[in-house]
Amino acid sequence: MSTQSTSVVLLIGTIVIVSLKKPDCTAVKADYDGFKLCVTSRRGMEDLSHQNLTDVPSNLSNNTQYLDISHNFIQSLNEAQFSRLFQLCFLKVTHCGLQEISPTAFIHTPALKVLNISHNDLRFVPDISVKKLKILDLGNNLFTSYRIPESFQKLSSLDLLSIGSTAALSVSYNDFDPLMNVHVDHLVLGGGLYWQNYDSGSLAKLKSLQKVSIHASFCGNFRMFEKLLVDLNVTQAKSLRFIALFPDSCHVDGDPFKNLRTMPFIQNLTIENTWINSSFMEVFLKNVWLSSLYDLSFVNMTYNEDTPDGFQFLTINHTINLCSITFSGVNHYQYKYPTFNMSFEAVSRLTYLKFSGSGMNILPCRVMSALPSLETLDLSDNLLTESGFWWFMCKHTSVFPRLRRLSLSKNRFSSLSFISQKMHEMKTLESLDLSFNSIYLDGDCSWPAWMTELNLGNNNLGNSVFRYLSSNFEKLDLSKTGITAITQEYLSHLPKLTYLKLSSNSIQVIPADLSLPTLLSLHIDQNALTSISREALAGFSKIQTLKAGGNPFVCSCDSYWFVATLNKSLLLDWPLDYTCSTPPSFAGLSLSEFKTSELSCEAGLQVAVALPVMIVISAAIGLVFYKCDGVWYTKMLWVWIRMKRRGKKCSNILKNASFDYHAFISYSHQDSDWVDSQLLPSMEGAGFSLCVHERDFVPGEWIIDNIINCVESSYKTLFVLSRHFVQSEWCNYELFFAQHRAISVQRDSLVFILLEPIPTDCIPKKFLRLRSILRQQTYLEWPNNERKQQVFWKSLKSMLHMADRSVALKDAALGILDQVPLLTDNM
Ligand SMILES: *[C@@H]1O[C@H](CO)[C@@H](O)[C@H](O)[C@H]1NC(C)=O
Ligand SMILES: *[C@@H]1O[C@H](CO)[C@@H](O)[C@H](O)[C@H]1NC(C)=O
Ligand SMILES: *[C@@H]1O[C@H](CO)[C@@H](O)[C@H](O)[C@H]1NC(C)=O
Ligand SMILES: *[C@@H]1O[C@H](CO)[C@@H](O)[C@H](O)[C@H]1NC(C)=O
Ligand SMILES: *[C@@H]1O[C@H](CO)[C@@H](O)[C@H](O)[C@H]1NC(C)=O
Ligand SMILES: *[C@@H]1O[C@H](CO)[C@@H](O)[C@H](O)[C@H]1NC(C)=O
Ligand SMILES: *[C@@H]1O[C@H](CO)[C@@H](O)[C@H](O)[C@H]1NC(C)=O
Ligand SMILES: *[C@@H]1O[C@H](CO)[C@@H](O)[C@H](O)[C@H]1NC(C)=O
Ligand SMILES: *[C@@H]1O[C@H](CO)[C@@H](O)[C@H](O)[C@H]1NC(C)=O
Ligand SMILES: *[C@@H]1O[C@H](CO)[C@@H](O)[C@H](O)[C@H]1NC(C)=O
Ligand SMILES: *[C@@H]1O[C@H](CO)[C@@H](O)[C@H](O)[C@H]1NC(C)=O
Repeated sequence: MSTQSTSVVLLIGTIVIVSLKKPDCTAVKADYDGFKLCVTSRRGMEDLSHQNLTDVPSNLSNNTQYLDISHNFIQSLNEAQFSRLFQLCFLKVTHCGLQEISPTAFIHTPALKVLNISHNDLRFVPDISVKKLKILDLGNNLFTSYRIPESFQKLSSLDLLSIGSTAALSVSYNDFDPLMNVHVDHLVLGGGLYWQNYDSGSLAKLKSLQKVSIHASFCGNFRMFEKLLVDLNVTQAKSLRFIALFPDSCHVDGDPFKNLRTMPFIQNLTIENTWINSSFMEVFLKNVWLSSLYDLSFVNMTYNEDTPDGFQFLTINHTINLCSITFSGVNHYQYKYPTFNMSFEAVSRLTYLKFSGSGMNILPCRVMSALPSLETLDLSDNLLTESGFWWFMCKHTSVFPRLRRLSLSKNRFSSLSFISQKMHEMKTLESLDLSFNSIYLDGDCSWPAWMTELNLGNNNLGNSVFRYLSSNFEKLDLSKTGITAITQEYLSHLPKLTYLKLSSNSIQVIPADLSLPTLLSLHIDQNALTSISREALAGFSKIQTLKAGGNPFVCSCDSYWFVATLNKSLLLDWPLDYTCSTPPSFAGLSLSEFKTSELSCEAGLQVAVALPVMIVISAAIGLVFYKCDGVWYTKMLWVWIRMKRRGKKCSNILKNASFDYHAFISYSHQDSDWVDSQLLPSMEGAGFSLCVHERDFVPGEWIIDNIINCVESSYKTLFVLSRHFVQSEWCNYELFFAQHRAISVQRDSLVFILLEPIPTDCIPKKFLRLRSILRQQTYLEWPNNERKQQVFWKSLKSMLHMADRSVALKDAALGILDQVPLLTDNM
């Protein structure tokens, strides 16, 4: 590097003292940080600002996470107002004329992380002790001192404390003591006044400070400012910001920033909302160049050239640390181009330069080659045009030798083809920002191969823009460019695309045939998409981030896949920015709360699901049926139902009749074991009276007579069927039935219990009746399984239950028997 000083004259276009009106982005950003900390659903948000409220509404939902009641007339805050809001995380009560906050006000809101009560009339710093509080803004109140209450010791999560008053003129030694053990990262202090006193050591106690913003002036007493810098050096803060340090007509005595040279920790310095003279600038920058500063910013500065030759900064004989300079918002006091006569070495290490909001309309010739290490140049928000940026009087040998990123956003550029040509001069440029210009497509573009990133956002270009792009582009921002459709044809010219922003256009569909296998990120929010289908995203095989909020989604099956299946970690703005717009019944509903079932949405699926489900269910039923002897149970049930039905039918006949026995039991001797051990105990135990032939037959009578007697005095006749019974006993009954054929008609008085399986083949042909009974399966089968035996007993008992014992039915029964015609059989 040459040691010889080379002078550079920077000519900067002027506008006189015209304040370039810009939105106050810092406030929006601060609120946004708090918002991000707190809000998980739009449902939890209540914006009740500017409502002329005189109290906190009492009907707020207990899910409220975010409450903005600023710009109202609420004079005090107390416990009762927040008693139900236990999820409250963000509370903003600014511009309300607040005078009093009860120490217990936030006792029911333990989740509170952000509390903004700036711009009120609080006369004392209120007692606040919410453990989770991270951001506390007490700026712009009417405290008479900065004395912090003891309760602040409990704010163990506090990151940002902003405290300011238009009535406190001094900082006393013990004011910040309660914060000594609180890990405050960022302190914003002051109300923009001239401080009258600062006690040395007051801020030095806050050892955790990383960033400090001081909003105060020290005009006429910069000794106090020097003491403050010494204290901030002790805190080892890395980033300092001074707001309104030099107001209009501030008398600056001496060299207030002299201490900067011996503050080894400081890296970033921002000077905001101040008036700066070129004479002061020379003195100040000497300190900066000798300091450890890495980043210097001037924000909203009014620049007054009070030295006759403008700004002169000519010698430098040491290495400098400064790498980044920002001028954001420069108002010029004189109606002329300011002069910067500056040593080449002083800027030789600069990698970042921002010169924005300055009214510049001609880029000084030497800038292009005099900044040898510059990598990023931001000239946004000026008045540059093609001819002003490439000023005809300038002759360049090397244009921005290391420049990689150039922002020409918010200027007056128009010709894309001209710019694309000119980019060939910048041999290292990768990224160009032309957003917010008046670009039109005026002919073929030839972009250099090394350029990979282009931002054309907020220019009125239309769909044809795709034809003016380079196939080397990897990152492309086409937000708000009037695009109405994207097609594979357009995008096939961009084979290397990894980032594509298409926000705020009028795109209605992502075509299903779109294929961008290299794409990692797609922003297609604020368009006219009604749904995003699986097919549409299938072409983006590598996609990692997708932003698609703010589209008029249709909450129907079209959105089913997107809502239910898509991995939401892909989505940057889920769920806050996704709402249903149609059908009307769902309008405004958050898409994340839209529920529909897969089954009701996918026809193929319905079949695909229904079929296996049917098969599985059938198989399961079959298995259960088989495993649990469903056949047996079904048979039992069938018999039982029939018995019941018949029972009902004849209950009329039997209503007035009564019997001596519930049942007559007929069985073979071989089966007496079962009858004695099972049947009699369980039936007689349940209160049934049974006629058993061994026990109850009258000795000496012919067996058939005995049987008839027993049958006739019993409500039912129970046959215990087994092979033995068939072989030995049945003949008696066939005979009996032959004599009293009618019994077969009155068959519900007969109950058959099958003790063991009897194949019909084993039954002699002559036993017609028995064969017919077994064929019709009108018998109860004795099961081996104990549980089934319970069912068996239940069935049996219910069959015998109808009998009424008090009156004999002899006559009725016999009457019925006689009416029935004889049946022939082979006996
Ligand atoms: C508090 O609200 C005011 C007024 O809107 C805003 O300027 C400020 O940035 C907010 N403070 C924080 C820390 O968000
Ligand atoms: C609040 O009061 C002012 C003055 O009375 C009125 O102009 C304004 O419309 C009111 N705002 C609301 C939201 O009611
Ligand atoms: C609360 O009550 C006011 C009227 O007093 C009404 O306008 C508002 O919608 C209600 N808010 C909620 C969340 O119920
Ligand atoms: C919130 O309030 C509703 C009634 O408004 C109540 O049903 C619900 O239990 C409350 N939630 C909690 C967590 O207390
Ligand atoms: C800042 O602190 C360092 C040591 O921590 C010390 O060497 C230096 O003199 C201090 N500078 C000022 C201005 O107090
Ligand atoms: C700037 O110069 C004016 C006179 O031109 C003077 O009144 C003012 O105090 C100076 N301000 C600073 C910050 O140097
Ligand atoms: C300091 O400046 C650098 C470079 O501009 C920036 O990246 C960094 O975030 C700043 N640090 C603080 C604490 O502001
Ligand atoms: C810019 O600074 C001036 C004081 O120099 C102040 O009056 C004005 O409000 C500031 N503008 C913004 C946008 O902060
Ligand atoms: C560097 O320049 C300063 C004046 O700006 C001078 O006082 C100092 O002696 C010079 N140091 C060297 C090493 O040349
Ligand atoms: C810049 O400074 C050099 C060296 O002092 C001087 O020769 C030159 O005339 C100055 N240029 C302007 C425009 O003041
Ligand atoms: C979603 O994707 C992320 C990473 O891309 C992964 O960690 C996460 O497990 C996925 N979630 C589901 C439910 O697949």
